[in-house]
Amino acid sequence: MNCQTVKDVEVKGKRVLVRVDFNVPIDSKGNVMNDTRIVKTLPTIQYLVKQGARTILMTHLGRPKSKKDVQFSLKFVAERLSKILKQPVKFVPDCIGPSVSKITSALKNGEVALLENVRFYSEEEKNDAEFSKSLASLGEIYVNDAFGAAHRAHASTAGIARYLPSVAGLLLAKEVEYFDRVLGNPDRPFAAILGGSKVVDKIKVIENLMTKVDYLLVGGAMAYTFLKARGYKIGNSKFDFEGFEIAKQILEKAKQSKIQFVLPLDHIIAETVTETAKSDISEIDIPDGWMGVDIGPKTVERFQAALSKAKTIVWNGPLGVFEIKPFSNGTRAIAEHLASLKDTTTVIGGGETAAAIAELGLEDKMSHVSTGGGASLEYLEGRVLPGIEALAKQARREKVAK
Ligand code: 3PG
Repeated sequence: MNCQTVKDVEVKGKRVLVRVDFNVPIDSKGNVMNDTRIVKTLPTIQYLVKQGARTILMTHLGRPKSKKDVQFSLKFVAERLSKILKQPVKFVPDCIGPSVSKITSALKNGEVALLENVRFYSEEEKNDAEFSKSLASLGEIYVNDAFGAAHRAHASTAGIARYLPSVAGLLLAKEVEYFDRVLGNPDRPFAAILGGSKVVDKIKVIENLMTKVDYLLVGGAMAYTFLKARGYKIGNSKFDFEGFEIAKQILEKAKQSKIQFVLPLDHIIAETVTETAKSDISEIDIPDGWMGVDIGPKTVERFQAALSKAKTIVWNGPLGVFEIKPFSNGTRAIAEHLASLKDTTTVIGGGETAAAIAELGLEDKMSHVSTGGGASLEYLEGRVLPGIEALAKQARREKVAK
């Protein structure tokens, strides 16, 4: 990374303001339904606690429309963090102002507080300078560990870095290290697996990866639009009308490049997308009245053969309707194959793909599973993420000032 991490600065006794991404699913009773994002931030928090920092955490939760709304309160998240961390976490019922300063200034070395949702203020998403300054006034050092929110140019993810010495947290640094390695200097062959339903959502990722990979394996609903563009029958499968012309152009580009652009050779087909629907295996042309819901066994073998040769693999998007058990086999077979590979760097994009890997219990078998959904997608598009750029800019400013 082009900036320091939390390990490069003296934090003992300092008020360290850490932006985390605790945007986790919460049920109607306030229970945290999946704490992966909290758990993955532990290395940074535990490091700070051990060093005797006074840790002030801040995050957004959901999209609360810029006003206080108990449904999006971080109170229950503070309780969950406290349990995982095995120490009290002070919940601060606001994120700026004198009452917040009073509580955070009184923190002792090694203590941890979590501020209320920064999105209760419209100024957060506007990246307002005064709001950034108010947040910054709570700390002496700013740490960004919110990779999942790094694609947002908001006050707590970007604006604040102008007003404090700023460094990366350990999770953010790890995410950047893996994505930079696969995108900048991958061991070859390099394979990308892409799923998802709309070509238009993935076009920039496909275009960026086409300049870097040796194999591009396409599954998921998006594959049917590509197959139709190649002249195959897709029956009632999902078809992305908006992405059809783009799919044709991408296939043309792929033909002119040296990469192997691999589409499904066969499919699991069903009459409806339901658990109990009648299903079958189909060759590449899908009959009328049926829709593709997963990659078929020949495709699994074809994908596995390509992946066995790869030394670097990046994966974004399930290959079938993973949430419906009879249509989850393709994603499972490919995930298990990745898990079995030795000496291959495997990087899993966040969101649905990370959720599938977690459900299969294969997280520990991958080199890296990202905590960022939108953020990992934008990184794979080759975009500069504002949260990361803000740290780099501040590092450059600090260098000049020295
Ligand atoms: C995410 O869940 O992808 C991040 O926390 C960003 O959330 P947002 O899309 O509401 O900005």
